[in-house]
Order: sequence, then C-alpha cells, then structure tokens
Amino acid sequence: MCGIVGHLGPQNSVELVLEGLQRLEYRGYDSAGVSFIDDQGNLQNFKKSGKLENLKAHLGAGPFVARSCIGHTRWATHGEVNDTNSHPHSNELLSMVHNGIIENAPTLKNELQAEGFEFKSQTDTEVFLGLMTVNLKKGLNFKQAIVESFKKVEGNSAFVLLDPVTTDIYAIKRCAPLVCGINAVQSEVFASSDPYALAGLVDKLYFPEDEVICHLSSGNKNLLNFYDLNLEKTKKYKSKNQDLSASVSEKGDYDHFMHKEIHEQPELIRSLTHYYFAGEGVPSLEKAISKKPENIHLVACGTAFYAGLVIKDHIEKLNRIRCYAELGSEFRYKDPILEKNDLGLFISQSGETADTLAAQSLCKTNGLSTMSIVNVEGSTLFRDCDDNLLIRAGIEVGVASTKAFTQQVLTGMIYSAALNGILENGEKKKDMAAKFSLLAERVDKILAEEKIIEDVAKEIHIHKGYFYTGRGIYFPIALEGALKLKEIAYVHAEGYASGELKHGPIALIDDSMVNVALVGPELYDKTISNIQEIKARKGIIVTIGPRGDEHLKEISDYYIELDFDGLDELSPIYVNVVNQLLAYYIARCKGTDIDKPRNLAKSVTVE
Ligand code: M6R
Repeated sequence: MCGIVGHLGPQNSVELVLEGLQRLEYRGYDSAGVSFIDDQGNLQNFKKSGKLENLKAHLGAGPFVARSCIGHTRWATHGEVNDTNSHPHSNELLSMVHNGIIENAPTLKNELQAEGFEFKSQTDTEVFLGLMTVNLKKGLNFKQAIVESFKKVEGNSAFVLLDPVTTDIYAIKRCAPLVCGINAVQSEVFASSDPYALAGLVDKLYFPEDEVICHLSSGNKNLLNFYDLNLEKTKKYKSKNQDLSASVSEKGDYDHFMHKEIHEQPELIRSLTHYYFAGEGVPSLEKAISKKPENIHLVACGTAFYAGLVIKDHIEKLNRIRCYAELGSEFRYKDPILEKNDLGLFISQSGETADTLAAQSLCKTNGLSTMSIVNVEGSTLFRDCDDNLLIRAGIEVGVASTKAFTQQVLTGMIYSAALNGILENGEKKKDMAAKFSLLAERVDKILAEEKIIEDVAKEIHIHKGYFYTGRGIYFPIALEGALKLKEIAYVHAEGYASGELKHGPIALIDDSMVNVALVGPELYDKTISNIQEIKARKGIIVTIGPRGDEHLKEISDYYIELDFDGLDELSPIYVNVVNQLLAYYIARCKGTDIDKPRNLAKSVTVE
C-alpha cells in the first residue's frame, strides 16, 4: 500500500527519496509525489497519478538539488486516483504525506471548513494538513502543532511532515509502520514506512512506538530525536543495526521477482532446515513451546491464511490441540471465545497487515499469549507478539506471495513438531530434517522441469474459468492455487474441496472450464471419482498427480507428474510450487503486470 520516504542530509535528497520510492513500488500504488526545499530555499511540490516514471517526467527539467525531501506512493482509499489527491499535500506552511486512514475525517473536515480552511482534494489526509495549518496560524511551533493535530485524528496512520522554515522533517504514527534510519558516516537521516526502502542507505534503524514524534534535524548534532506528546525527550523506540543489502532489490536473470522468488525456495527450505534442526536448539522456538496452549486461534489473511489451514491440520493431527483458523478481517467482529490459556498465533509475511494486527491486539487485551510466524523481523507484529518464529524467507518483492507461503507452512510444522517433543528426540528430529531436505530436492527437480508447466499454461490460458480442487491436506492448496492465478492473471478461479463441486459449482462446468485437480496420495480414490464427474461434463482436466499413474493420465487432458514418495505431510507444499508456476506462466501468456498486479498492494495496512 502507500509508501513513504523522507531524507535529510548532504546528498541530493530528491534522488535518494526517488530511489527509496522505487524500492517501495512492489507494495502497490497508483500515484506518486515529492516535496523538497530547493537550493533557493523554496518549497517545491510535484505529484502525478500513475507510475513513478510519470512523476520523474513531471520533474523533468531538473536535476533538482535539495537537502531535505519527503516522498510518497499512494494507494487510493479516499478520493479517486488523480494528481490532486496524490501526496504530498502542501501549502506555504508545510508539506506532508500520510499512510493509513483518518476515521473521523468527515467531522474534522466540517470543523475546519467552519474555521475557513479550504480543501483542494477529496482525501482524508488533507484534514491533517488543515489541522496543522490552523494550529501553526495560532502561533504554535511545528512540534506543538503536530501534538495538537495528532490528538484530534482517529484511526491508524503514519504522518511525515516537512517544515519549510527549518527544512526539518517530523514523523509520527499510530498502529502504522514507521521506521527512521541514520547513516552516521554521511550524517544523513531518513524516515520511511518500510525498512526495505533504506536498505544499503543507513547503518542503524529506529522503530518508534505509537505517539512518538521523530524529529529529523539538520541543525542539531543529534540527527534524530524522539519526543512524547508532552514534548519531553523519550526512549520509546527500538533500534537495530541495518543488515539488508541493496542488492535484494535486483531481479538477476529473471524477468520477474515472482519467478525469482519461486526459484529461491529450495535454498530457503535448506537454510530453514539448517537453522531449526542443525544446532542444539533455537531459543525462540524453545521459549514458544514452553507453554502448551489449550486451544490455538490461528489468524491471518490471504495466502498466509491458507498457510494457516495447513498448519492447523498438522497441529491438530499431531498434538490433538484444537485450532481455529480465522480470517484477520473477520476475527475481531465475531466476538471470538478467547480463554486465557489459549494461544493467538498470527501468520504474516509483512507483519504489517492491519487486520492481523488488530486480531493480535484483541487477543493480547483478552490476556492470551500471542505468537507470530512472520518474515519481517522488527515489523509491528514481531514487536507486539510475546513470541516470534521467523520464517527466514528474505525480502519478498512480488505481490503474489510464493516463498513466504512455503516457509510459513514449514515453520508452523516445526512449531507443531516441537510442541510434540519431536525435536528432543534425536532420531525423529533427524527424520524430519531429512524429509525437509527431500522436499528441497523435489522442488529443485520440478523447477528444472518447469518447461512442462509452461507448455500446459500455453494450452490452457485462453479459457474462461478455473476450478482448483483437492481433498484433505490438498484443499488449502486448491484455495491458494486459485488465489495465485486470479491475482496475477486476472481470470476467474476458485478453490474447492473436490467433494463439494456436486453441491453447486458443478453447474458451471462445460468445455470452457478448466479443473486443476490436485491428487496426492491422501484420499486418492475419492479425488479420482470427483475428476470423473467433471470429465463427464466436458470440463478440461489438468491433473497434478503421482508419477506414472496411467489411469489418471488417461482421464486427464494434461498431466503434471510428481514424485510424492517419502514426502508425506510435506507434499502439499510440493504441489503448491506447481500451482505457483502454472499461475506465473498463465499470467505471462496474458501479459499482465506480474509483480505489481492491478489494484493490489504487497502489504495491506488498512482495514
Ligand atoms: O503480509 P501478510 O502475509 O500478512 O499478507 C497477507 C495477504 O495480504 C497476502 O498473503 C496476499 O493475499 C498476497 N497477495 C497473496 O499472494
């Protein structure tokens, strides 16, 4: 969703902010803008709907040299996509960018209009500009104006503001991602909504708590100071060394990040195996299993939710602990039954998904212990949970989540096995590690043979609709396969438990519908009967099934063969890699913007 980058320091701020915004393109946006103080001391504001390229063309004549700049990529929530609604919003007193939603914007807008403030845009953001303007005109200094304005707004937001008088930058947030960073050698200071924007640019990152004003200052020997809402200096922030290299943002030999990330999976599986199985034990895992929960509320969104369904199945079968898998967007509105010995388990790649965070907060308020299975160390979810298991997937840039799914499922299975004591038993631990390594090998093999999947995609991409079907442990994989296809290929796709088709959806089957049938060793016979039902209605059958299964081959129009032997409960992950490739190649045939599909954002930070 929206991205923010701000910079203050001796290097050219405009270039650095544009570079940071470029790195945040993966999050999804529909317009972009920058505000800076030019070398004549004037506040300049440039914004444009569409891609960053449009903004750069608009900046055109440059090069603009500035020592202080804020920038934004907007993912529209309030007001259509146009230049006026783009950020920054500015006037002669300030310029500002905003991520999130001001929930009481309509009320505040009426009050500000009554005070004579004239709105130019349809955004909720401009309300904050109005509050700041009114407060500055009353004679408050910049920090005081931030305090008074911030106290009036409701909802989850991060604001970054530029003071044209001092050229200083200020940032503040409530339940929204915000990070500051310092490059001590270059005497430079940054603010952003995403540490990824600062990779390679800073040596230290600072994560402020809610309601902390971050003051990025040029005229001060401390480049970065933190204040509470009483304007007292505060230590309410966490800091860490910045260890991301700038090269993570490169695609290498691949045309798309998604394809690169699919191919990273075997190595990531190996490194996860090494991390959790090689040594004497991982402290975060040991701490996580020190309490055995009575029930587990597993909450997540999108792909992470489907990973949760696989993990639920594993925990219930192995540990006989009841797990409830819940969608983040539904959880807090259903008045969930939460007992104090239950565990809230949250799965997320970004650790910033608003609905997942709200669910975590609800569990915490109800006295539950909370744990994350998360990719981004230092994200809000990571910081708010009592325990965290990192999935160690590295940065995932493609909007379509691929490697994060695999790592989430495996990490969840490791947690489940550890709960059961399996990791304390040398033999069993070795067996489990061997199975993980086998999975890495099999995924390697399927990636080497991806041409087979590409060829199937070329044949089937013209069809109007797709049903992904599977039973048992393959059912969540059917859901995930369909999600992957629809988000990047823009075609209708649904995931179903195979046995459910005859209860309604089978009415849609004709010779223009494709059924991607997932057939592993579990519930094999039952799944085949379901395929026959579709075949009898002339549906096109693409089966992903066991190698050498002549009968299945015969009843399928296209057959993708896999070696399931020895993989057992890991086989859904293996099948899922085929789904990822199938979606990728169908999208290629359709010529869509695979890494940045329309209307989507990488991390969904609004409700
Ligand atoms: O960052 P998260 O894992 O919390 O994100 C959850 C979903 O928004 C995400 O998985 C989304 O469904 C992906 N675009 C799917 O590919």
